[in-house]
Amino acid sequence: MRADFNVPLRDGEIADDLRIRAALPTIEWLLGQGAQVTACTHLGRPKGRPDPRYSVAPVRARLAELAPGVELLENLRYDPGEEANDPAFVARLIAGFDAYVNDAFGASHRAHASIVGPPQFLPSAAGRLLAREVDVLLGLRTDPRRPFVAILGGSKVSDKLKVIEALLGVADQLLIGGGMCFTFLAAQGASIGDSLFEEDMVGTCRSLLDEHGDRLVLPSDITALGPGGELMRPEAGGDVRQVGTSLPPGWKGVDIGPGSAADFGDRIAEARTVFWNGPMGVFEDPRFEAGTRAVAQAVADTSGFTVVGGGDSAAALAQFGLAGEVDHVSTGGGASLELLEQGDLPGLAALRGEWKA
Ligand code: 3PG
Ligand code: MG
Repeated sequence: MRADFNVPLRDGEIADDLRIRAALPTIEWLLGQGAQVTACTHLGRPKGRPDPRYSVAPVRARLAELAPGVELLENLRYDPGEEANDPAFVARLIAGFDAYVNDAFGASHRAHASIVGPPQFLPSAAGRLLAREVDVLLGLRTDPRRPFVAILGGSKVSDKLKVIEALLGVADQLLIGGGMCFTFLAAQGASIGDSLFEEDMVGTCRSLLDEHGDRLVLPSDITALGPGGELMRPEAGGDVRQVGTSLPPGWKGVDIGPGSAADFGDRIAEARTVFWNGPMGVFEDPRFEAGTRAVAQAVADTSGFTVVGGGDSAAALAQFGLAGEVDHVSTGGGASLELLEQGDLPGLAALRGEWKA
């Protein structure tokens, strides 16, 4: 069984075991059928050689508590054959096994050996987590209940451009926060001070606004950090101020403001389908968590069907104690965005027997 047990670690301890717990339905089903289960995963990015910082030992210990008797192989990425999708590595992986299950939704956008290799040689199936993720996320593309409101944050327009385009093709409104909103605001002519900015994306943002301005919603106010201030270090000083969308020189926008948070919240409350990916600001710094908290709370409170992409937004939900209040928290960050963009992933194509290198 390929799982995605790439969990966040802090000082060698598992900071959040969601990805391990999420695989339990599949593991328990397999054990219930009398299968002997060996799981495998990558952890971090050890670059093709053993590195004790990325040992799966903490994961193995947690798995032994949650699913006694299930074996876990050492980090797949200790071998360069994993990321290279080397046929010899695939052959070693499947040796001695009768069947393969992919429940590694969060890694199924990677055409790596353990994802696309085994289905070419063994009877193979999707695990329950993978199947549910695909159902929910593809459902957003095909028949969302309307209005469908999507909220995107994160630092770069360039990273999210394809998903912005895909969401504009299906959502009724796309609310933009996070660092990437400043390139959009700059495209509208606002002065953005020292905020994050991608100069080469301004033209793209301008065309998106021209074409979809009625459905693209930008913040109307900003929480900004003044000259001399540092993120995560309140003791460094620097004023924090709420401003409109024009920032004085030297000021850095680091969260959506209270007016925008209320506006985004109203739109989320009226939605019948919500997809949220990416924080609205630097929520790890308590001075700039309000926008992300307000969006998380609105997503938790709305009666619409709610889906939250993995990674930072899932971490924010957990930080605010709201993870149990949404319909689906994806275990995939990159994978959930790529599935929304493309409608398919290498790991899914491989299970259908349609993978071609
Ligand atoms: C993730 O956490 O994004 C997945 O486990 C994939 O990991 P990767 O981005 O290192 O391929
Ligand atoms: Mg990733």
